[in-house]
Amino acid sequence: MADQVITDQELDEAGLRLEIDGEIARVTLARPERRNAMTGRTWSALASIGQNLPESVRIVVLAGDGASFSSGIDLTMFEPGGPEGESSPLASGKVPDPAELDATIAGYQEGFRWLRRPDLVSIAAVHGHAIGAGFQLALSCDLRILADNAQLCMKEPALGLVPDLTGTKPLVDLVGPNRALELCLTARRIPATEARELGLAELVVGGDELEGAVSDLAAAVLTTPAEAARATKELLLQAPDNSLAEQAAAERRAQIGRLTDLARQQSA
Ligand code: ACO
Repeated sequence: MADQVITDQELDEAGLRLEIDGEIARVTLARPERRNAMTGRTWSALASIGQNLPESVRIVVLAGDGASFSSGIDLTMFEPGGPEGESSPLASGKVPDPAELDATIAGYQEGFRWLRRPDLVSIAAVHGHAIGAGFQLALSCDLRILADNAQLCMKEPALGLVPDLTGTKPLVDLVGPNRALELCLTARRIPATEARELGLAELVVGGDELEGAVSDLAAAVLTTPAEAARATKELLLQAPDNSLAEQAAAERRAQIGRLTDLARQQSA
């Protein structure tokens, strides 16, 4: 590992592994005996990884050990004792203080939000199940490559909850509100081929080809100069909320920035 941005003990307790090799950071959900179920500690550690990534990193790959990408929230988070070594503010039976819970959930969401940063391209490599928070983690990434055994499921409403880990916006952006409603309220498992048809995956490959496909995609993205990649991602992220005129103006601003930088580099 080139740079250590969070201690191995913290990662281990959070059920994560982190490897950084130059421009690529690989974050692995590493609690396979629990199908990579995640706790509050997992999301805090994810946020910390995002905050401390070396500037060299341009690609973040998220993957899971064992049979599944992630079975979602560790269900012991809803039990009075909470997960091992960790208390949970979500435990049933406690009437929550709204302000406290808002802050807690905002903290959890930080573990997901940084994956959309314009200086990074995040890729989810999903095999097996991606359920609930696991599906939302995959949705938080810019790009998703699925193994052909992948199954996606937005389970939260079936448990009496809503999806609150930043997954509803990308879901609606990708499949539209009607399909998103159907997927959320039936909590059905979406097979990889359907996920591809719905635009929830960029690519579906055989299970043993997943790692290679992710490496190929990362290498292809890295052929684009870092500053052009960043400016382009910034521009594309604005597009859905902009009118054509606003987006055209944003394109002009971004291009002026690019051409100015390139001219400075040439004259230096
Ligand atoms: N939280 C805690 N433990 C879990 C979770 C979880 N989310 N998912 C699996 N485990 C545990 C199981 O209890 C089991 O433990 P055990 O070995 O002590 O019996 C072990 O991981 C293996 O799980 P199995 O169910 O035996 O594995 P299988 O491959 O048959 O099924 C599957 C995998 C489909 C993911 C299944 O475990 C499952 O449905 N898990 C619960 C999914 C869920 O409801 N997640 C919450 C969604 S909502 C949200 O994320 C906000």
